[in-house]
Amino acid sequence: MTFDRSIKIAPSILAADFANFGAECEAIEAQGADWVHVDVMDGHFVPNITFGPAMCAAIRPHIKGVMDVHLMISPVDPYIEAFAKAGADVITAHVEAGPHIHRTLQAIRNAGAKAGVALNPGTPASAVADILDMTDLICVMTVNPGFGGQKFIDMTAKIRTLREMIGDRPIHIEIDGGVDPKTAPLVAQAGADVLVAGSAAFKGGSVSNPAPYGENIRAIRAAAEGTYV
Ligand code: DX5
Ligand code: ZN
Repeated sequence: MTFDRSIKIAPSILAADFANFGAECEAIEAQGADWVHVDVMDGHFVPNITFGPAMCAAIRPHIKGVMDVHLMISPVDPYIEAFAKAGADVITAHVEAGPHIHRTLQAIRNAGAKAGVALNPGTPASAVADILDMTDLICVMTVNPGFGGQKFIDMTAKIRTLREMIGDRPIHIEIDGGVDPKTAPLVAQAGADVLVAGSAAFKGGSVSNPAPYGENIRAIRAAAEGTYV
């Protein structure tokens, strides 16, 4: 994984056909996805349950690019090794998920993955001030985690603050929740480079009719990149 600040679209397979994840990953990548975002939920940290490391390992061969695993689980540390072994390139843990985010980020890097830290809408940018040098990605939640298809919560002030705090460090700013062609320009302009999109990426398409995936991804990318003109 090389670092740059170009816009990367990361469709969340939370919005894919759950009976067909392998083919969905192949289809979304063929239609222009840069990263594939995998939302792991435990029914404890968030009020919903999705899938675990075995599912990540199963889809890994169907993803050519970056597998971006977003852990909405608590505790996190006992499962890091399993997600790294499953082939996650990025493993993101929530700062709210436990008392030892510093240890968690260390463990993620030690396991050979890039270390991401996620901030719920109610958590300020200052929560990551002392862990920047052990972080490869900061995920700014623009919904309260747990479900796809929720309304975007404006976190642009937080994104701007983080972008300033990061300076020249090679740290991605990822936005997760309610990203579509309307909201993408706001977050891109504030300094985000990885845009997760569930509903807006998978809308209208399917494995047998994947062209809408491509149209959706192009629309989000164009909207985000348009802000730099
Ligand atoms: C929310 C998840 C998101 C979600 C995004 O808990 O972390 O990744 O799938 O879905 P949309 O784009 O539909 O808000
Ligand atoms: Zn997510």
